[in-house]
Amino acid sequence: MANIPAAVVTGATTARGIGRAIALRLAENGHPVALLGRNLVTAREYAAEISDKYGIPAVGVSCDVTDPKSVDEAAGEVDERLGPVGVLVNNAGITDPGRFVDIDVASWNAVVDVSVAGTVNMMQRMVPDMMRRKAGRIVNITSVSAQNGGGVFGGAHYAAAKSSVAGLTRAVSRECAHAGVTVNAVAPGLIDTDIRGEVDPALIAEVVSGIPVGRMGTAEEVAATVAFLCGIEAAYITGATIDINGGLYLR
Ligand SMILES: NC(=O)c1ccc[n+]([C@@H]2O[C@H](COP(=O)([O-])OP(=O)(O)OC[C@H]3O[C@@H](n4cnc5c(N)ncnc54)[C@H](O)[C@@H]3O)[C@@H](O)[C@H]2O)c1
Repeated sequence: MANIPAAVVTGATTARGIGRAIALRLAENGHPVALLGRNLVTAREYAAEISDKYGIPAVGVSCDVTDPKSVDEAAGEVDERLGPVGVLVNNAGITDPGRFVDIDVASWNAVVDVSVAGTVNMMQRMVPDMMRRKAGRIVNITSVSAQNGGGVFGGAHYAAAKSSVAGLTRAVSRECAHAGVTVNAVAPGLIDTDIRGEVDPALIAEVVSGIPVGRMGTAEEVAATVAFLCGIEAAYITGATIDINGGLYLR
């Protein structure tokens, strides 16, 4: 167990979210985990659940990924409580549907900030330590929206933000590879979480009818792929974006 590094997952504070599922899966694989998010109450609650279930150290830490000071404080707390971090999963994200011409500046900035600035802030804080220790795994969450020019549930700002995350992943992977740090992304398709808020079930059914596998994906299915990329066996995969979309978008 001593060789399994501590992991940080951002945006891991929603009940049915992908972040919580990733934290659970990483703990199952033996990683001590820190669940970061803006809701400290649920971060702590889900961390306690993980400790109970797997007998692994798990902590909930308050963090707004768009704020470099908050990121720095959260990272310091994780170092203190779990030791050096070897795995970072940038999962925090928000979406907003609507037509490009209707997107206002506040919405544009909010959507781009969480995915892009959030991922940048976390990586800038954690990559130097990983490179010094010559070991690290980073997984960023992009989206099928980045590949397909948006979609039903995310506007142009969401597609632009997630495209940035994919480009950033490739760029940072080049700089880190020689130091044993891999940087990859996963691109989920339609996953059954609450990110979209209240959506007309008929609209969901229409999208599902275009998915070759014939259903939405689960948070656990995304988590399984993320956990693989965080493991020792994925050492030769870097700069990649892995699709998890049931065939919704093929390339
Ligand atoms: N659900 C899908 O169909 C789908 C598809 C493709 C990509 N994604 C991506 O997967 C990731 C997880 O989404 P989800 O579906 O689990 O939704 P979710 O809403 O359950 O999870 C997103 C999490 O990010 C957190 N967050 C938002 N702003 C934050 C901030 N400033 N600082 C810290 N945390 C913040 C939220 O509180 C939440 O916990 C997101 O990046 C999303 O864009 C989801």
